Amino acid sequence: MTNEHMHELTSRRTFAIISHPDAGKTTLTEKLLLLGGSIRSAGTVKAKKSGKYATSDWMEIEKQRGISVTSSVMQFFYRGHHVNIVDTPGHQDFSEDTYRTLTAVDSAVMVIDGTKGIEAQTIKLFKVCRMRGIPILTFINKLDREGKEPLELLEEIEEVLGIESYPVTWPIGMGKRFQGTYDRFAKKIEVYRGNEESLFVDFDGENISDEVRQYVDASMLEPLSDELMLLEEAGNEFSVEKVKNGELTPVFFGSAIANFGVQSFFNSFLQLTQPPQPRMSSAGKIDIDYPHFSGFVFKIQANMNPAHRDRIAFLRVCSGKFERGMTVTLSRTGRKIKLGQSQQFLAADRETVDEAYPGDIIGLYDAGTYQIGDTIVGDGQAFQFEALPKFPPELFMKVRAKNALKHKHFDKGMTQLVQEGAVQLYRTPFFGDYILGAVGELQFQVFEYRMKAEYGVDLEFTPMRHSIAKWIPKDKVEKVSTDSRIILVEDLEGNPVLLFENDFVHRLFQDKNPDIKLMSILES
Ligand code: G4P
Repeated sequence: MTNEHMHELTSRRTFAIISHPDAGKTTLTEKLLLLGGSIRSAGTVKAKKSGKYATSDWMEIEKQRGISVTSSVMQFFYRGHHVNIVDTPGHQDFSEDTYRTLTAVDSAVMVIDGTKGIEAQTIKLFKVCRMRGIPILTFINKLDREGKEPLELLEEIEEVLGIESYPVTWPIGMGKRFQGTYDRFAKKIEVYRGNEESLFVDFDGENISDEVRQYVDASMLEPLSDELMLLEEAGNEFSVEKVKNGELTPVFFGSAIANFGVQSFFNSFLQLTQPPQPRMSSAGKIDIDYPHFSGFVFKIQANMNPAHRDRIAFLRVCSGKFERGMTVTLSRTGRKIKLGQSQQFLAADRETVDEAYPGDIIGLYDAGTYQIGDTIVGDGQAFQFEALPKFPPELFMKVRAKNALKHKHFDKGMTQLVQEGAVQLYRTPFFGDYILGAVGELQFQVFEYRMKAEYGVDLEFTPMRHSIAKWIPKDKVEKVSTDSRIILVEDLEGNPVLLFENDFVHRLFQDKNPDIKLMSILES
């Protein structure tokens, strides 16, 4: 392997930003893109928040989502690193794709609104990152506003999320009295100066120099020293190993809108995270320096251009080098495919990619060839990457074709869209009713629209009250007594799943059946 190739491999960082809507993910993304100089003006990314969608019109949704879709992956170059940010859609677009995206990244940045603390969507996304054991760095945002006490926020991280925390930076005041942050590693205060660029002043945490006094309000210095001492004495010890395994999250404070603390955070991020990590496959671990090309499809975006009804399969490159025009094999079918057209996504533009390395994400034109989780390999290879985990839906609908005579089209559309990962499908064991499961409402809307547009089938939906799905081991099924509040269904592969009406019913079931281990995420 040439030095140049090795550098391409080790200089990559592929991550997602996870947060609850409105915590500041878009604003932070914008500031990161500005760091890399790859966005014309801040605000480009923001345009995606274009209000409400017409619920029944998928093309309209697509049109409105234009920028959000094309900015699914953003790549930029910064301080010797090729950085890939993979977008996780906000609440309106929240779907299983959001979860699956997290299987394609090597680390995550968790943005928390300092005025609100940990919120629901953050918890869901965090759990998926945690399961994968990837490094998670935390950026506590909106320090320019009056928010929760920093110690309270750290406690929340530890208690609600169950991960150790280590504040790398520490805020000096907040809101109107926000003065800056102290970097415990660099032993410097980053002074907040409103619209002006930050200024850095040395401070060992105890001895207050004239320079420090010049920039930081005297009344803030003593509490700062006390808090720093408390962190040293009572806080967690820093461990690179724990960060690497996702057991400890380094925490940073700042204000994305004021572009304060963003650059120092990102510099630390690059140091604390690793190059793309190996993936398990049927042929063992595939490292990034494995000489042959390989990758897997984690997301399929349909109808990006309604005029052409095209689909884009998002592929995470895992080893080797992608070159446009290369011939690869789809492991599931053994079919050979020439990868002629491929795209990479940069802010609002689509760009053609000629080459890509492990860690990169490329979009492949798809005429119905790919399925979620597919492995693509080069040069006579034949392995498959581990299947992607399945995530439990929270919304359920019974579904059937309005016109029973259309059942062939219904079955065909159902099979194809479900394989593509648009929604999850369950059947009831005796009557064979179709039940669709989704994590976001949008998945149903898109499904309904596509069944009509692509298969000519009108659907009739009956919403269900159930909201929790858990996989149950096959050998425990006969011990279960079901009623209207707990129903037994099967997923597409015939794995038994229990649908519970709500968390109360679920907990009651667990109390009565402590020996049955229910699974929230099915990993094959
Ligand atoms: P999201 O992608 O996580 O949903 O959040 P986004 O960046 O869109 O930010 C949500 C709101 O929070 C926006 O205000 C944004 O300006 C604001 N915001 C982001 N970072 C900070 C920060 O550091 N401090 C403060 N005070 N506000 C911040 P908005 O009113 O919804 O939109 P806009 O009118 O400002 O565009």
